[in-house]
Amino acid sequence: MARKEKIEAGFEKAGLPTARRHVFLCTGPDCCDPEAGQAAWDELKRRLKDSGLPVMRTKAACFRVCHGGPWLVVYPDGIWYGEMTAKRVSRIVTEHLGEGRPVKEWIAQVHPLEPADEPDRDGRPPRR
Ligand code: FES
Repeated sequence: MARKEKIEAGFEKAGLPTARRHVFLCTGPDCCDPEAGQAAWDELKRRLKDSGLPVMRTKAACFRVCHGGPWLVVYPDGIWYGEMTAKRVSRIVTEHLGEGRPVKEWIAQVHPLEPADEPDRDGRPPRR
């Protein structure tokens, strides 16, 4: 298989062509016990695979927050969830990723990313 075909196969395997969201999970070691981070990651992998939702997932080593994890971030929404457990991850997969309803009680921060040269979602001018 040629280099370009291998890359395209990788994109396909990652779910990029159909992805609607991308979820990142920090599994520690500074924001949480790495075992807790791994348990949350295992559940995220399992639930996303079983659900077939068009969501990409990436294990992150550190978001530089380093307290209150494991942290789970959902893009493009820009929603940050802290203190993830397997049970919480499961509910986020069902309600936020599956039904489009973020789990408000666990949201620590909302910060959707906006390109710097375009008005933001509220129509404010670009940041300089
Ligand atoms: S180790 Fe998780 S945010 Fe730094």
